[in-house]
Amino acid sequence: MRHSLAEFITEDDIRLKVAELGKRIVNDYKDKSVLMVGVLKGSFVFLADLMREIDMPVEISFIALSSYALGSVSSGSVRLLCDTDESLEGRDVLVVEDIVDSGSTLNYLIETLAARKPDSIRICAFLNKTGRRLSDIKVDYMGFEINDEFVVGYGLDYAGKYRNLKYIAKIEFK
Ligand code: IMP
Ligand code: MG
Repeated sequence: MRHSLAEFITEDDIRLKVAELGKRIVNDYKDKSVLMVGVLKGSFVFLADLMREIDMPVEISFIALSSYALGSVSSGSVRLLCDTDESLEGRDVLVVEDIVDSGSTLNYLIETLAARKPDSIRICAFLNKTGRRLSDIKVDYMGFEINDEFVVGYGLDYAGKYRNLKYIAKIEFK
C-alpha cells in the first residue's frame, strides 16, 4: 500500500525516556538479578539501549513470537517461534516489548512464562496503545502512550521495513 512517514517521537525524546526507564528499573530491582527477556524482533533496538541505561548486572534473553501475518492488521493468534534457553525458575523476569496493542501477544507470553515458576514477571513496553486493549495487561514500565495509529522505527516495522529508523514515525496510508 502507498504510504508516507511523519516523524512522531524524536531521537532526543527517546533517549531521555529510555534513560528515565533505566533509572526506575535500577531503583526497583536494586540487588536482584534481573533476566531481561526481549520479544523479537521489534524490541531489540529498545532493549539494546535500555540495558545500557541499567547500571547493575543484568542478563539478556530473547523470545520470538508472531501475531501479525504481514502488514498492519493483527491476526489475533499468537505463535511461539523461538524460545529462551535459560531456566526461569526463581528468576526476576523483565519482559521487554516494543509496543502493546491488543495485548494478545503479552497475554500469551505472560501465561507461558508464568508456568515456568519465575519469582516475578514485570513488563516494560516502549509504546502503549491503550485504546485497543482486548486483554487486561499491566504495563509496569511504559515509554510513551500513543493513539490508535500505526507507527514504525526504533525496531518497529511495517511489512519488515523501517526498523532501522532512529525515531518513531507515523505511517500515513494514501
Ligand atoms: P498485540 O498482540 O495486539 O498487543 O500486538 C503486539 C505486537 O504487534 C507488537 O509486539 C508489534 O510487533 C505489533 N504492532 C502493534 N502495533 C504496531 C505498530 O503500530 N507498528 C508496528 N508494529 C505493531
Ligand atoms: Mg512485537
